[in-house]
Amino acid sequence: MPRPVPPAPEVALNWSSDVARDFGEAALDLWAEFVERLPSDLPVVRDHELDQVRDAVCIDVPDEAMAWDDIFSHLRTVTLEESVYPGHPSFVAYISGAGTVPGAVADLIASGLNQNVGGWRLSPAATEIERHLAEWFAAKLGLPAGSSGYITTGGANVNLIGLTVARHVKAGWDVRADGLRGGPQLVVYTSSESHDTVDRATQILGLGSRGVRRIRVDDEYRMDVKALVEAIKQDLIRGHRPICVVGTAGTTGTGAIDPLDEIADVCKAHDLWFHVDAAYGGAAAMTDQLGHLFKGIERADTMGFDPHKWLYTPIAGACFLARDPRILREVFAVDASYIIEQGDVDGSGRNVGYMGPGFSRQFGALKIWVSLLAHGWKPYQDRIAHDVALAKYLEELAEYEPQLEVMTPQSLSITTFRFVPLDLAYREEASVYLDELNESILHSLESGGKVLPSNAVVRGSVAIRACVVNFRTEGDTMDLLVAETLRIGRLRDDEMRPESLR
Ligand SMILES: Cc1ncc(COP(=O)(O)O)c(C=O)c1O
Repeated sequence: MPRPVPPAPEVALNWSSDVARDFGEAALDLWAEFVERLPSDLPVVRDHELDQVRDAVCIDVPDEAMAWDDIFSHLRTVTLEESVYPGHPSFVAYISGAGTVPGAVADLIASGLNQNVGGWRLSPAATEIERHLAEWFAAKLGLPAGSSGYITTGGANVNLIGLTVARHVKAGWDVRADGLRGGPQLVVYTSSESHDTVDRATQILGLGSRGVRRIRVDDEYRMDVKALVEAIKQDLIRGHRPICVVGTAGTTGTGAIDPLDEIADVCKAHDLWFHVDAAYGGAAAMTDQLGHLFKGIERADTMGFDPHKWLYTPIAGACFLARDPRILREVFAVDASYIIEQGDVDGSGRNVGYMGPGFSRQFGALKIWVSLLAHGWKPYQDRIAHDVALAKYLEELAEYEPQLEVMTPQSLSITTFRFVPLDLAYREEASVYLDELNESILHSLESGGKVLPSNAVVRGSVAIRACVVNFRTEGDTMDLLVAETLRIGRLRDDEMRPESLR
């Protein structure tokens, strides 16, 4: 005889729809207040101190339910006091999209629905939306019909997935069965300017840092294709096995776009996998205004771009695309006896949990999808082009100011410049001091909380870098950045300049 069902706990976790609504409305009030105050009333960043942040937000998990007033007071502290705001108009740091308003709401629906987008049977609508979206992106990027992909967490993961596929296809032996034992050194080529996550991926994949060749760049920070060909030749002579070139469509530091078409030719000639890291530039590549800058991107075997960068959608969401998505199952699928692959027996859709490293997966496509539906593609294109125009405006402002030096010409929506006191402009011995001075300006800008750029290192020198992937940013932010750089630069120069340079 089965024993009787144990009594249910006194306090139930399953809130009724009325309670859900009340809790949700309180959260919505806070979020709407945040959206209202963000452009006007909140600083882009505060001078956060580690201990003070910990004291403010790390509370003990209670044994009994916390009072709602206390929860929302805590969430107010998190939201309105102890965070940095990529959606603030003055945020021009890193490459971190502003976060679309409809995307945030869609995230609530996605979490509420709680689909497991690893399996079609567990997430029919979610899987189909994700597939449809990925294929729409693939078509916009010029990939042929049949290309497809999915949403993953970020550009780092896209590079890891792309290089895993490259290793599988081009190693020349069964890496899944035999690992890397005994084979020649596999080699991946990428430019000196590409993102560090390419190295990270090759290290995770067991190629080691010796398996990456950082190819030098030309004056515009684009991969030097002659140097690429020479590096491949040298590796072949040494008995290594070249497997892949990673081209970058919009480098992190300066927004440079590698000569993708020429790299695709090299890949074809040497039978190499062509992976394109378009984490930043991919959204621009899809626009009528800027698409022509990315010739050759459509020849990628695998590629990815980050909607959470330049489609402004909330973190995290990157799109991984493969020219031949059938290969993904071959690379990633495992046979698990507890999974019934309905697709194989009844013709239902794909199980994305077999097409990449993730198994249970969230409905990360919805925030991107709803943002596109709510705004439409044309306003998106116009705004992306406007971000580029703002970067150009900043470049012109910096050119006009005698104490500012443009370090790299505006490319996509990135401009880099630095503060150089007039009398130090041509003094080589001032280079170390100029780095210190500009680092100090960057720190002061950050603690000042008025406008937030980030840094870049250009030809070995510290530069101030602004990147606009923010639909709230306008020209006044650029004016402010220039005015603050000049003001702080002059102050710091008075305080810091060593006797030897006076
Ligand atoms: C060119 C490029 N690739 C990859 C990445 C990593 O992307 P994520 O931070 O989304 O993982 C970045 C991040 O800025 C990037 O600029």
